[in-house]
Amino acid sequence: MEKIIVNGGTPLFGQVEISGFKNAALPIIYACVLVKGKCILENIPAISDITYSFEILSGIGAKIRMIDKTTYEVDCTDVEPGKSEYDLVRKIRGSYYLLGAEFGRFGKARVGFPGGCNFGVRPIDQHIKGFEALGGRVSTEGGYIEIESDGRAVGTNIFFDVSSVGATLNIMIAAATAEGTTIIENAAREPHIVDCANFLNTCGARISGAGSDVIKIKGVSELHGCTYAVIPDMIEAGSFMVAAVATHGAVKITNVIPKHLESISAKLEETGAIIEEFDDAVMVTAGEKIRRTSVKTLPYPGFPTDMHPQMSALLCHAEGTSYINESIFENRFRYVEELKRMGAKIKVDGRTVVIEGGAPLTPAPVIATDLRGGIAVMIAALATPGKTEISEIKLIDRGYDDICGKLRQLGADIVKVTVPDEDEELKAN
Ligand code: EPZ
Repeated sequence: MEKIIVNGGTPLFGQVEISGFKNAALPIIYACVLVKGKCILENIPAISDITYSFEILSGIGAKIRMIDKTTYEVDCTDVEPGKSEYDLVRKIRGSYYLLGAEFGRFGKARVGFPGGCNFGVRPIDQHIKGFEALGGRVSTEGGYIEIESDGRAVGTNIFFDVSSVGATLNIMIAAATAEGTTIIENAAREPHIVDCANFLNTCGARISGAGSDVIKIKGVSELHGCTYAVIPDMIEAGSFMVAAVATHGAVKITNVIPKHLESISAKLEETGAIIEEFDDAVMVTAGEKIRRTSVKTLPYPGFPTDMHPQMSALLCHAEGTSYINESIFENRFRYVEELKRMGAKIKVDGRTVVIEGGAPLTPAPVIATDLRGGIAVMIAALATPGKTEISEIKLIDRGYDDICGKLRQLGADIVKVTVPDEDEELKAN
């Protein structure tokens, strides 16, 4: 089993380059299934969600060739629908984009239910609503989601009941090669939706309005291969911004799109940090003290829910009482128990985290409860003098490319170690 050991209390200083965006790379990788040809994808992060996705595509007949550490050739000429491996698909959430891609390419799809971070119920009713609107007949039996049709998805108008990133992307992918025009209303507006639309348009699709709440997709009969670079990871960037402030450091974060970080920058400035923006970088300098603040997570361009746990870790060090209202997921609070182990005065009241900040935390053995919960306890450990051990770190590897190496570049005393599993120890005794 692997653990991360942090000797905290050292301010982070220096420069770090951000990797490609996991949540943009995933829909784009699965959207390659629409293309009977080769796509070259650049700025792909080296994380396990991507590794699993390439394994899933290879399993249905795609040919994946690694050109360099962040560049891949994906050839989906010979893929077949309904062949993805159930146990691989359930490892991640993003595998559900295979539904839209198979439906768009073949007029049918069969994929196991997705997995993903455990935030309570993570429904897919809006995805199903969209597939049915496109003429699909959807069934969910035996752990699989199946879509059948009379041959091809047919364009239509869809009004989503909630702003859903996944559903917006899945339906946009399916509609790209549907017969006729599809209009998605109450669409999510995240940058990764724009990125996937740009990728599809580079392959010959006719999508307009991505980034607004109305997206128009004029179906085309075929898409061709292309070369496309994925946008930088705004959540990885935000995580480093918070770590710089929490450790009273100063870090230049490069390969970012500052506009994507605006809500995070604004909130960190409220805590007293100084943020300087450059064309493709931000410079984050901690203020004298960390000031309390209140946060409400919202769909883009609001404050991202994927930055909520990291902000909690920061606000544990802010004088006074801070609040974080989580409006997107009903139970994204499992990380709170881990911060409590480090002495944080933090509690959950309904859907609001209440933090009595100011007192220093103390090191303690903690776990990554999920991807962003893992980074939250890492940020808390970096800001806390002494040795903190973090277990269950595979969850962090799902979404962060070489996080320990990048933090060591900034002066952090952090290592990943392998220790015998409990049952191996039992066997040994
Ligand atoms: C994506 O999840 C991201 N995952 C999540 O990031 C992110 O937190 C989330 O978008 C919101 O930004 C990936 O991109 C792989 P949603 P997704 O559909 O698509 C409700 C991370 O840490 N909803 O926008 O599952 C849902 O319950 C991960 O990188 C329905 O009701 O999120 C939630 O309350 C964690 N019905 C809200 O919408 C549906 O059919 C937003 O969910 C779909 C969603």
